[in-house]
Amino acid sequence: MNSEKNTIIFTLVYLGKEYPVHTYRNEYHSLMVLIADYLSLPGFGLCSGMGSCGTCMVEIKENYSPYTRHTLSCDVRVNDELANTIITIAEANY
Ligand code: FES
Repeated sequence: MNSEKNTIIFTLVYLGKEYPVHTYRNEYHSLMVLIADYLSLPGFGLCSGMGSCGTCMVEIKENYSPYTRHTLSCDVRVNDELANTIITIAEANY
């Protein structure tokens, strides 16, 4: 098995600063868990992925698309669909 083939690269953005991410498919249970691990943001993911707090909101932009989508990162699996995306974490409002 070629582990290089399974590498997923994308960019997190928080408060205007970019954080490159190199990870693997399903290395994290969800995008919310990955963000919490990478950035340790106080108050982020308060309901631990139950989908009820809204603190894990992100904006996902595909690299070659003009469109973005807003979603709860606890509902997003870490897989190839995230490759080359730019994921902006909503500024904390809690
Ligand atoms: S962690 Fe609470 S809604 Fe995602």
